[in-house]
Amino acid sequence: MPNHWTRSELDLHLRLSAGRGKRAGLEQALRDAVRDGRLSSGAPLPSSRALARDLGIARGTVTQAYEQLVAEGYLTSRPRSGVRVAPQPTPPQAEDTAPPVPASLPPVRGADLRPGLPDLSAFPRRPWLAATRHVLQTAPNTAFGYGDPTGCLELRQALAEYLGRSRGVVATPDRVIVCAGYSHAIRLISRTLRRRGATAVAFEDPSEPWFPLLAEECGLTVGYAPVDRDGLVVDALTDEAAVTVTPAHQYPLGMTLGPARRTRLLTWARRHESFVVEDDYDGEFRYDRQPVGALQQLAPDRVIYAGTASKTMAPGLRIAWIVLPADLVAPLRDTIRAEEGHVSVIDQLVLAHLIRTGELDRHLRRCRSRYRRRRDRLQEAVAGHLPHARLTGIAAGLHAVLELPGDPAQEPRLLGHLAANEVAVDGLSSFHHRRDDHPLGIVIGYGSPPDHAYGNALDTLIDALRHHRAPGRT
Ligand SMILES: Cc1ncc(COP(=O)(O)O)c(C=O)c1O
Repeated sequence: MPNHWTRSELDLHLRLSAGRGKRAGLEQALRDAVRDGRLSSGAPLPSSRALARDLGIARGTVTQAYEQLVAEGYLTSRPRSGVRVAPQPTPPQAEDTAPPVPASLPPVRGADLRPGLPDLSAFPRRPWLAATRHVLQTAPNTAFGYGDPTGCLELRQALAEYLGRSRGVVATPDRVIVCAGYSHAIRLISRTLRRRGATAVAFEDPSEPWFPLLAEECGLTVGYAPVDRDGLVVDALTDEAAVTVTPAHQYPLGMTLGPARRTRLLTWARRHESFVVEDDYDGEFRYDRQPVGALQQLAPDRVIYAGTASKTMAPGLRIAWIVLPADLVAPLRDTIRAEEGHVSVIDQLVLAHLIRTGELDRHLRRCRSRYRRRRDRLQEAVAGHLPHARLTGIAAGLHAVLELPGDPAQEPRLLGHLAANEVAVDGLSSFHHRRDDHPLGIVIGYGSPPDHAYGNALDTLIDALRHHRAPGRT
């Protein structure tokens, strides 16, 4: 018997095996669908009348098949809810051979002050909705096709203008690529460099641990260069094909890459014909210092600039952008064309509209003052209650580092103590790759709680830290 699609209330693709009786064939097809998860626990099945009609078999055959599977425990049958798939045991997990997936942050009870997220309750829902309505009313039908895999022209134009004006980036629309988050940008850049013969790249130490893993997954060898109070120690680089840096606000330590280091880094890049990947992840959030322009403007031919909507809007959008040196435009376009998984064209048009109408700037101004207030409260609380601690990296961004007296080996104990008091933060050591000569410290993401929860979260953190006693201290 051929495969059949039912036309009943529920679309159900059943593979009815040839050569069996109709009833046995239907029973087996239903068993298979439940076992392989196409029919999940609790899913309703079509009525026997509808399924019989769709399959062109007698209703009694379907009823008997359902009864048999109820008896076997695959289905349940209740007077009001009809026939449904019975709760199934969870299948054993397949061995983990898949590439790593990003460490998403599972919710925690209490004060969630882990870095990485903006305040998701501040997402500009109303402007986004209005812009979506505008796009749906005005975009031509052709806009809803597959679109340009490197990003729709409207967004690339809007980004080129916005990045030039707000970050000093030297950009034209043909140099801009829209991608699904900075993580995607790192993959695209790594694959492109690898295809051009690159073997090694460098990252800052400390830095976000997820991105080097992505580069390795693309076949590159990863090395690390340390960071001091002026940012990346350029002299530690050798002849890597690229180095990834966070010049505006080092992640996670928070210093700015100093002017002399910038010059040195670009000299290094020119000498080795290497690229600098500028991760401008939170460049929009600066508080009490002169805006630090993008490094890219000093050497658009050597710097790959990358920005993201993950901090300014929400990571769930999965929208980021790259501005490329001329040499890399064609190779990176080739990489992206060979891929699937581009950003939704509608979301791109919505973001382009928000940028063009100034809504993004208005949203950023609101967020900047909100995060600045939080940063100030954190600073006051530390100054008032934790005289031995040192808060650093606070001139910009959504997180700060709190250095505490003690040995870094005490970090697990400190984090355990905070967790017992329902406070979640990250330990400084989780960002260090090669070095353990860093201070005892925690990274506090003051951006992520919603406004109404921030005060409590901060009080809980400070209280827990005040009551933490390092071994040997009284
Ligand atoms: C250092 C750094 N860069 C960039 C990003 C943004 O990544 P994505 O755009 O994939 O969300 C993050 C996110 O937490 C980050 O920590």
